[in-house]
Amino acid sequence: MTDFSAALPLDRRRMFQIAAALGTSAALGERALAAPAGQAGPQPSAASAANGLKVAPGTIRLNGNEYWEGPVDDGTDAARAAVARSNYYDPAGERDALIETVATMEQVGADHVVPWAGSGSPLARAVVGFCSPERGLVTADPTFEVAWMVAGYIGAPVAKVPLRASDQAHDVRAMLAANPRAGLYHICNPNNPTGSLTPMADIVWLANAMPKDAVLLLDEAYLHFSGAASGMDLVRQGQNVVILRTFSKIFGMAGMRMGLSIARPDLQAKLMQYDGVIQTLQLPVPALACASASLRRMDQITARREQNTQTREKTAAFLTQRGFPVLPSAANMLMVDWRRPAAPIKAAFEAKGIAIGRSWPIWPTRSRITIGSPQEMERFCNTVERVLA
Ligand SMILES: Cc1ncc(COP(=O)(O)O)c(C=O)c1O
Repeated sequence: MTDFSAALPLDRRRMFQIAAALGTSAALGERALAAPAGQAGPQPSAASAANGLKVAPGTIRLNGNEYWEGPVDDGTDAARAAVARSNYYDPAGERDALIETVATMEQVGADHVVPWAGSGSPLARAVVGFCSPERGLVTADPTFEVAWMVAGYIGAPVAKVPLRASDQAHDVRAMLAANPRAGLYHICNPNNPTGSLTPMADIVWLANAMPKDAVLLLDEAYLHFSGAASGMDLVRQGQNVVILRTFSKIFGMAGMRMGLSIARPDLQAKLMQYDGVIQTLQLPVPALACASASLRRMDQITARREQNTQTREKTAAFLTQRGFPVLPSAANMLMVDWRRPAAPIKAAFEAKGIAIGRSWPIWPTRSRITIGSPQEMERFCNTVERVLA
């Protein structure tokens, strides 16, 4: 198990800032970032987090990048059995079992694997651990904005670098040029909201070209939708790389809360500031059991990927034929360009019982559409005809 004793003592003011950042991060999933219909951009306040992705009962949810089905059957069975022993914190060692399962699958030491209640928390913690007013954050634009927001809380400068125009990959050379002395370089692969992939050669280039005391945060929340290679070799080689994974997407466990950070133990220790040790040691036992059992059914996860790809490509073809271009995606989302302001279109869909995703300020005419079931996407396509006729 990871030795967390290296976590540094903190002065009171910094502890206050970090508590605020991490407290907010608990609610910083898609739910917290979702803007009410008619608005674009992140909504970081506690009140908006409470509203989040709230939709009327029966609404089709294509707005939160969740998977449209629950966990695979073996995961559900394991979770159900674990509920009965949830009067104790972790009586059957479910946390260690998950760590061992992941370590074996990913061929890393067990001391490199730390589970969390989702990956939003280690994402926020990485910013707190590796950034400061002197050592900023570099991210893409658009991307998942939690890191930007946390950097704002702790007063770290943020450089937002547009995705490469040719393929919407992270423009790693421009990212390094934007701040050659950053504390953290953040790559989301595949990216949210585009679903675009950044070539592994570019990721490796950045890991080698960044300052020796900087860290590369590689968020692989959507990796299993893509079939693309992971950056795990960089971790195996001992580089300054933290990989994030989540069970909230293709594993169908968003409401159960389970995620992972995978990195060298000394990097993991930097994620422990304030309350990290408590957060990682006391996790919901059903979620731990569900995650381990699900990882043993990667055949079913691959089947989900194949079905998602089919549904996504069918939806993309439909939108393109109707004159609404989409960016190529390798994940469970499509960024569609309505060629007019997206906010009223989002509201019109919602009025017809379909919640579509948000827009990013850099692209106000585009909406992110999460890929749902084949039936849900058929309803979506029919509704496109009605809303945009
Ligand atoms: C890229 C990315 N990373 C991390 C998260 C956080 O997800 P969770 O905390 O549910 O693991 C999300 C959620 O949508 C995401 O899109």
